[in-house]
Formats: sequence, structure tokens, C-alpha cells
Amino acid sequence: MSVVRTATGERLSSVVLAPMPAGIDRRLLEKTRPQRVVPLASPPTGSDLKPVPGDAGPPVIGHTLSYIRYGSAFTRARHATLGPVSWCGFVGEHVVIAAGPEATHQVLTNPDKAYSQDGWRFLVDDFFHRGLMLLDGDDHRVHRRVMQEAFTAPRVRGYVHRTVPVLREEIPTWPQGRQLRVYPMLKRLTLDVATHVFMDDRSGPEAEQVNQAFMACVQAASSIVRRDLPGTRYRAGLRGRALLERYFRAALPAKRAGEGDDLFSALCRARTPEGEAFTDDDVVNHMIFLMMAAHDTSTITSAAAAYYLAANPEWQEKARAESLALGSDVPDLAALQSLETLDLVIKESLRLAAPVPVVMRRTTKDTALLGHHLPAGQLVMAAGAVNHFDPAIWTEPDTFDPDRFSDSRREDKAHRDAWIPFGGGVHKCLGMLFGSLEVTAILHELLRHHRITVAPGYTPRWDNTSLPVPADGLPLRLEPLGM
Ligand code: HEM
Repeated sequence: MSVVRTATGERLSSVVLAPMPAGIDRRLLEKTRPQRVVPLASPPTGSDLKPVPGDAGPPVIGHTLSYIRYGSAFTRARHATLGPVSWCGFVGEHVVIAAGPEATHQVLTNPDKAYSQDGWRFLVDDFFHRGLMLLDGDDHRVHRRVMQEAFTAPRVRGYVHRTVPVLREEIPTWPQGRQLRVYPMLKRLTLDVATHVFMDDRSGPEAEQVNQAFMACVQAASSIVRRDLPGTRYRAGLRGRALLERYFRAALPAKRAGEGDDLFSALCRARTPEGEAFTDDDVVNHMIFLMMAAHDTSTITSAAAAYYLAANPEWQEKARAESLALGSDVPDLAALQSLETLDLVIKESLRLAAPVPVVMRRTTKDTALLGHHLPAGQLVMAAGAVNHFDPAIWTEPDTFDPDRFSDSRREDKAHRDAWIPFGGGVHKCLGMLFGSLEVTAILHELLRHHRITVAPGYTPRWDNTSLPVPADGLPLRLEPLGM
């Protein structure tokens, strides 16, 4: 191990570059290993705080391209070499990476109110303005209380009831006997589910326009050029946002007046016992955010689980046996929750391929994180997916082993932040129950109709420009059952 010195030659007493851990691409480790560790900001004189170690990487772009290429392998590599609190150049700023269970826990639970959602607003506010995840403090607390009324167990039961018929219409028609890019097919499917469950709409020219506008917002939110310039994704996203606002606003009066059980209607009617409710603007903003929050995340989870089932046929057979045993009745919430093998497989897929590997925050004031000084206004990335590979928590963390979540092992119980695909603290995912049930329902229908296979030796490569998506669309084959 070598003791690291800062740019000015000072000794960074606690920063010792660790040896290469197993499981991470060696070339990546070499590429992302800082040549010279630089302190982010000097701790206040007289304090016993340490500076945050790190490096900016290449000029302007920093380590952005490494993150896009390697995703959580990049944050794992930084954690391995620099420790749980480090910094790097990212999208033109310096970002602190908080990784490992202790660091993420402190950021997510935010006991001193030192972290705000401005880390997200900085990236996506133009497109997801005043979505729940972008709100802070009392504003967030009140909006979350109201929104919770649209996510009660009876409501979620109703959403599941609306979901399954869409899956039953589409999944059995998926072609068998040839290679398919499964990711875009799942994406289309979950968008159809969202259109039906959230808006009580069916596919048609208007729904298609709304889908396009929504996709434009998602793409713009992660575009590298972040200005309203002709021909850019950013401009297309701003237009998409304007269309979505017009669409939801026009549909609002009928939703307010009606008795619908879709999410849009539920938000219009949501009221806390204290009488708090959403204004028209609130409903529009929340609907646009919810479409985004629900869609990519469920698609990524279903795609990852489909891949792991294909690559691990013994788990696929076990899960299918339970699905077939349910019979052909439309499964309700309880039936889906009884599919134990799928539950383990989905949890393991969320561990290995977390759809939201990092969450963004910004410090509201000078603060300390595990003894490191963070200045006010500092962008922070809580990299929860790093915890999913912590060898102190998980046996052979890079191996697919759903049984680690079984009652007899429960490796995820080793630390309260060991497994945090849905985040933690006051911003923990509100759609966790519905999202998990939707993914279970998708995989259940897939297993009832198709055997899923993958070419020997294939491993997905995830593109992390935005949330991680399979760069090649995830080529899998569906075969008839019994083959
Ligand atoms: C497998 C699927 C999903 C995953 C992995 C996931 C993950 C997450 C994560 C990590 C956060 C925390 C963000 C932060 O702390 O800044 C979050 C927040 C949120 N998610 Fe999900 N999500 C999923 C599905 C859904 C679905 C289906 C919905 C809605 C129907 C939804 C609605 C939300 C909302 C409203 C928030 C913001 C909560 C708040 O700020 O109070 N999510 N999600």
C-alpha cells in the first residue's frame, strides 16, 4: 500500500490506496485509479475532520465517461481504492461519492438535514419539475402524505388487477424460436401497463404521442448537452414536457369528476385525514414524475431477472413450477406474493443490477461524513449499489445466488443498508410494493408461456448514460414450453 500525497505534496494521512479487490475489471481499476489524490476542500482550521480524497479526472468531462461505461463497477472501484467517502469530476462538477453501508445510511437518513434533493433538481428539474423526489423538507413531507393515499394496499390491489390483463394480452404473442431484443419489448410492455394503470388509457395515437413525449423527457434528462439548442435532445425534452403538461391538464377535469380507480384519478381525489390535497398543478407534476419513476425501473428489473432466469435454468424451472401450480386464474396480490422463488430471484437481480445504483443529493451546509469535511453546496452521490457487493456482507458477492435471501440465510439482514435498491430515509421509493408486484406479474406470465434461453457465454453490458440499460437490447430467445 502506498501513502498518498495531495497535489501540494501534503500527506493525506488516512488515504491509503487499497490493493485491487476481486470481482472488478482490472483495466477499469487501473483507469479510474487516481494518479494524484487531491483534497476536495480544506476542513475548517482546528477541526479534526479529514479532507475528502479524490481526483477530477480528464478536464471538464471528469470521470463521466467511466461512469457511463462501468456504472456501479466504477463506484465500487473508487470505494475500493479511496474508501467510503471520495470525490471525482462528474458532469462538469465535483461530486462526492458516499459508498458502503455507513456512508449511504448517513446521507439517506439525513439526521442533520444537511442533504437536499437539489442533487436531483440540478440534473432533471426541467423535465420532472416538482416531482415528489425533487421536493424537500415540509413541502416534501406534505406531498408524500397526500401521495401515500394513492399507494395504500387496496389501491395497489386495484393497480395489480388492471396490470395483469395487459400482460396476458401481450406476453403470449411474443415470438418464439428466434433471438429477440427483450429489453425494448419489456419497455413497450411496461409503458402499456403504465398507460392503462396510471391513466386508464389504451394504446392509440394519443397514447403514442404521450409515450413519445415522455421518452423525450427521459432522454433529455441524461443528455450531455444541457442547453435549449436546436436539434438537441434537451430541446426535444422541453417540448415533450410541454406536451405532457397540456395532456394531463386537459384530462384533469374529467378525472376529478369521475370515479376511476387509475392512479391519475387516485391523485385527484387523494386527501389526508387533515384535509391536505393536491392542486391541479401538483397532480400534473406528480403524474409526469410517476410515469418516469415507475417505468424504467420496472423494465430494468424485469430485464435483469429474465436474463438471470435464462442463465440459470435450474432457478427458471423452480420458478416456473410455482407459477404453473397457481393455475390459469388471473393472479391477485396474494397469489403473486406466494411465488417464493420469483421473490428470491427478483431480490437477487435488484442486488446485482440495481436499476437506481446511485441517488443524488446536495449539501445545504458544511457537514461531516464519516469524519470527512463536506462543504456547503457540495453535490453528493449516495452509491447504494456498492453496498450490494460488500464482501463483509455477502458471500461471493459477484455470484448469482438468490438463496442468500432465504429465511435460513438472510444475508441482507447483515446491515440495515446492505440491500437498498429502493433507497432509504424519507425519500424511500413509494412504488416499492407496486413495482415489485408488477415485475413478479411480468415474470410469472413469461414463465407460463415461454422457456427463456441465452447464448452460452453471453453477459449483458449495461449502458449507464441514465439508469442502466442493456446496451445491446438484451438478446434472449423464447422457446415453447416442453422443449
Ligand atoms: C423496481 C422498481 C423500482 C425501483 C428499483 C425504484 C427505486 C427508487 C429509489 C432508489 C428511489 C429513491 C430516490 C432518492 O432517494 O432520491 C425511489 C423513489 C421513488 N419512487 Fe421508485 N423505484 C421503483 C419503482 C417505482 C414505481 C413502480 C413507482 C410508482 C408507481 C415509484 C415511485 C417512486 C416515487 C414517487 C419516489 C420518490 C419518493 C420520495 O421522494 O418521497 N417507484 N425509487
